[in-house]
Order: sequence, then C-alpha cells, then structure tokens
Amino acid sequence: MASLGQIIFWSIISIIIILAGAIALIIGFGISGRHSITVTTLTSAGNIGEDGILSCTFEPDIKLSDIVIQWLKEGVIGLVHEFKEGKDDLSDQDEMFRGRTAVFADQVIGGNASLRLKNVQLSDAGTYKCYIITSKGKGNANLEYKTGAFSIPEVNVDYNASSESLRCEAPRWFPQPTVVWASQVDQGANFSEVSNTSFELNSENVTMKVVSVLYNVTINNTYSCMIENNIAKATGDIKVTDSEIKRRSHLQLLNSKASLGVSSFFAISWVLLPLSPYLMLK
Ligand SMILES: *[C@@H]1O[C@H](CO)[C@@H](O)[C@H](O)[C@H]1NC(C)=O
Ligand SMILES: *[C@@H]1O[C@H](CO)[C@@H](O)[C@H](O)[C@H]1NC(C)=O
Ligand SMILES: *[C@@H]1O[C@H](CO)[C@@H](O)[C@H](O)[C@H]1NC(C)=O
Ligand SMILES: *[C@@H]1O[C@H](CO)[C@@H](O)[C@H](O)[C@H]1NC(C)=O
Ligand SMILES: *[C@@H]1O[C@H](CO)[C@@H](O)[C@H](O)[C@H]1NC(C)=O
Ligand SMILES: *[C@@H]1O[C@H](CO)[C@@H](O)[C@H](O)[C@H]1NC(C)=O
Ligand SMILES: *[C@@H]1O[C@H](CO)[C@@H](O)[C@H](O)[C@H]1NC(C)=O
Repeated sequence: MASLGQIIFWSIISIIIILAGAIALIIGFGISGRHSITVTTLTSAGNIGEDGILSCTFEPDIKLSDIVIQWLKEGVIGLVHEFKEGKDDLSDQDEMFRGRTAVFADQVIGGNASLRLKNVQLSDAGTYKCYIITSKGKGNANLEYKTGAFSIPEVNVDYNASSESLRCEAPRWFPQPTVVWASQVDQGANFSEVSNTSFELNSENVTMKVVSVLYNVTINNTYSCMIENNIAKATGDIKVTDSEIKRRSHLQLLNSKASLGVSSFFAISWVLLPLSPYLMLK
C-alpha cells in the first residue's frame, strides 16, 4: 500500500511532467512561430465599368512590416495584387490586373486586406483567394466574385401613350433580367398581358437598357416595377394621385450565400413631386 509520502511524491512528479509538457508546447509554437490566423472574406458583386471591392479582413498585427497580403485568382498564373513590407509589390502581378488594383494601405494595420478593383470587367468574375501572413501566423479565405450590370429603375408617367401608362427605365443590366410589374390594389395580379418590356443593347455591346411600359393604369394605386437577374434585384415604385406623384426605388445585391444577405439600399424614402408643374413640363 502506498504511503502518504509516496502519493505526494508521485503527484508532484506528475505535475512537473504536465507543466514541462505544456512549456515545451508553448516554446515549440514560439519557435515554429506560425499557426493559423483567421481570414474572412465577403462575397460580393461587381458592376461592369465601375470600381469594385473584394472584401477581406484578418486578425490585426501591430507590425505592418510583417504583414504580407496576396490576392490570387483561380486560373490566373500571376498574382492579382501583393502588399508586403508596408507597400505594394507588383513584380509578379498578372497582366490582366495591371494598373487596376489597390489595397487600402492605411487600413492594413487594422486588419483590412480589401482590394479595390478599378473598371470591373465581365471577365473579372471568378474565385479569388485572400492570403495573409503576419507575425502571428498565416491564413487564407476564398471569395466568389460575380460580375454583371445593375442599375436603379426610374418609373414615370408615360404621357405619350394613348392610354394611361407608366414607363419604367433602367440604363444598364446584364445578364438580361426579368421584369415584373405589381400593384398594391390588385395584389398577385399578372400584368404580363398589359405590359411590354424591351431590352436595348448599349454601345459597349454587353449591358442593356431596360424599358417596360405598363398600360391602363389607374389613379390612387401604387405600382412597382421589379427588375431582377442573378446578381441584383431592383424596384421602382410610383403612386399617382389627383394632386401628386410619389416615387421611390431601391437596389439590392443578391448574395450567393443567402444567409449573409448583404444588401445596399439607395433612396428608400419616397420622393414627392408636385403634379402640376411636372405636367406643365411636358
Ligand atoms: C476597408 O477599408 C476600406 C476603405 O476605408 C473600406 O471601404 C472597407 O469597407 C474596409 N473593409 C472592411 C472589411 O472593413
Ligand atoms: C414622346 O414623344 C416625343 C415627341 O413626339 C418623342 O420625342 C419621344 O421620344 C416620345 N417618348 C416616348 C417615351 O415615346
Ligand atoms: C403571367 O402570365 C403569363 C402568360 O400570360 C405567364 O407566362 C407568366 O408565367 C405569368 N406570370 C406569373 C408570375 O404568374
Ligand atoms: C386598355 O384599356 C382599353 C379600354 O378599356 C382597351 O381597349 C385596351 O385594349 C387596353 N389596353 C391593354 C394593353 O390592355
Ligand atoms: C413592345 O415594344 C416594342 C418596342 O418599343 C414595339 O416594337 C412593340 O410593338 C411593342 N409590342 C406591343 C405588343 O405593344
Ligand atoms: C458593337 O457591335 C456592333 C455590331 O455588331 C459593332 O459595329 C460595334 O463596333 C461594337 N461595339 C463595340 C464597342 O464593340
Ligand atoms: C383618389 O384618392 C383621393 C383621396 O384619397 C380621393 O379624393 C379621390 O377621389 C380618389 N380618386 C379616384 C379617381 O379614385
């Protein structure tokens, strides 16, 4: 039978072994240095011809000189962008991205590795990798970038038409969207027989202008023109009463990961237009 002394002795030995193991593990990490750090990207969409942002954040590091940011694109041999030792290093940059990329250099220290992409092209769509090295370790995350064209529609009374009509116009969409009209009074009504939608190719031969006319509309009703493709959904609302025209519109980017649901809203409040001067203009 073990004496009390033996139990205490072996307990102390065990504690020493456990502590030594823990210390060795900590030192081991210290020497090998690099464990993984958290890198987070946000799926987004680019509007052709405009500037876009590929969003990426990482656990911040206090030493800027130790931070390396590499942006890569699947199927592209060169780098999209590289930032290290506090500045851009574009020696390995792929031709396709020359002069079109920038990181927010003053935000890197705070863990912002987002990339600004100038003049977004249809061909910029694809899988990107945001790869980060800091003094704490390294990590990466992928980002699915979609490109297309989307714009806010404007709905107006179509004074040219023979019947009371509304005209919904949006300057740039790609791929070709669907256009659906709805009204507050006749909810669930199908307006496809009393509307006419056309798509007109813009001069760069990619994006198209969307025009949809809704015939035989009634006063005191709110009509919505909804334009949607796989990238964005936009709505233009109009209400014509005896004394005024009210309009509003918004645009929402559709995320492939529905749970994240990033959306941008523009002009969510009603815009009041006095009716009479508006009519006099025409
Ligand atoms: C990174 O910085 C840019 C420029 O200030 C900003 O627009 C962007 O929202 C930032 N991204 C994140 C994820 O904080
Ligand atoms: C309305 O009529 C004017 C003049 O007749 C014409 O210039 C304009 O293109 C027409 N607008 C529409 C939307 O048909
Ligand atoms: C509306 O009716 C048209 C045919 O008249 C049909 O093709 C379309 O699918 C209908 N839309 C809805 C939303 O029911
Ligand atoms: C609009 O209403 C008029 C009169 O009720 C009708 O003759 C015409 O066919 C309607 N137009 C459409 C596009 O339904
Ligand atoms: C629809 O609009 C197009 C172009 O504006 C026009 O050519 C066509 O005749 C219209 N169709 C109907 C059914 O109104
Ligand atoms: C668009 O297509 C037309 C006809 O196919 C062509 O004449 C024109 O040069 C093209 N424009 C551009 C910017 O590619
Ligand atoms: C529209 O609504 C106003 C106020 O609610 C009412 O005075 C007017 O008579 C209505 N007009 C029509 C055509 O229903």
